[in-house]
Amino acid sequence: METPYSSSQTYIDEFDPVDYYRTYYHPEEGAITGEWLHFALRKAALNSFTATTVCGVKGDILIDFGAGPAIYQLLSACKVFNNIITSDFLEQNRIQLQKWLRNDPDAFDWTKIVKFVCELEGNSDSESCKKKIEKLRRTVTKVLKCDALKKNPYDPVEMPQADCLISCLCLEAPCKDVESFTNALRNLKALIKPGGHIVIQSVLNCSYYYVGQKRFSCLTINKEQLEASFKEVGFEIPKLKIIPCTENPKTDIGNQDSYYFVHARKPCS
Ligand SMILES: C[S@@+](CC[C@H](N)C(=O)[O-])C[C@H]1O[C@@H](n2cnc3c(N)ncnc32)[C@H](O)[C@@H]1O
Repeated sequence: METPYSSSQTYIDEFDPVDYYRTYYHPEEGAITGEWLHFALRKAALNSFTATTVCGVKGDILIDFGAGPAIYQLLSACKVFNNIITSDFLEQNRIQLQKWLRNDPDAFDWTKIVKFVCELEGNSDSESCKKKIEKLRRTVTKVLKCDALKKNPYDPVEMPQADCLISCLCLEAPCKDVESFTNALRNLKALIKPGGHIVIQSVLNCSYYYVGQKRFSCLTINKEQLEASFKEVGFEIPKLKIIPCTENPKTDIGNQDSYYFVHARKPCS
């Protein structure tokens, strides 16, 4: 059964961050805390945001595009950036991000995932986990509204150009076809400094995903189309990694066949 395109209005009306967190990231109920998170967090901790690899990225400003209500994707990045601007299209997601940043009692609990990242980075004692959380809360300076479908995704806010932009599981949500995905990448490129980096992690060959009981559409994109989009926009791709999805969650929550990690660069001129 084909899933009808989930419009911006559908997201505004029907994307519930509590259901989303429960479906995917809740420490007991979350369905993909295994394969996806292990892949995404490992790539971030051991490839992208570490001083010990040639691809290691660091700098002053990092933009997180389409964060949803999630912070897991920033746990390694906050070590090597001075200033993180996180963002999402939906107000209900931005409210959840603010709650976590303020340490509100009803904020989502990410401690299990923080511990996993600390283990990957070689410091898993409770003091290091506490410091990691404090560091991330200090480093995120803004939570903004973004729209991948706008030529200037942060309009009317004036954005400084970033040293790096990251985005997880986002662009396939609003982009209806590969052309729209390529345009969104072009819009993101304008937000990055010449010579700066973009790290995108998401799913391949997926047409839908669930948030609670609600089914959302997903752009079905394959490896060749993904690479062609990055090249058409003028990014260089030093690193592209794809792993097959082998996990069988207890319930049907999405039909991706693999996960991808792309680390690309905007040329200096
Ligand atoms: C599958 S969720 C991913 C959330 C989070 N990045 C994660 O890794 O779990 C898809 C996200 O796309 C966002 N989104 C929907 N329409 C958008 C648009 N036009 N521009 C930017 N983001 C959008 C939604 O608000 C939602 O947070």
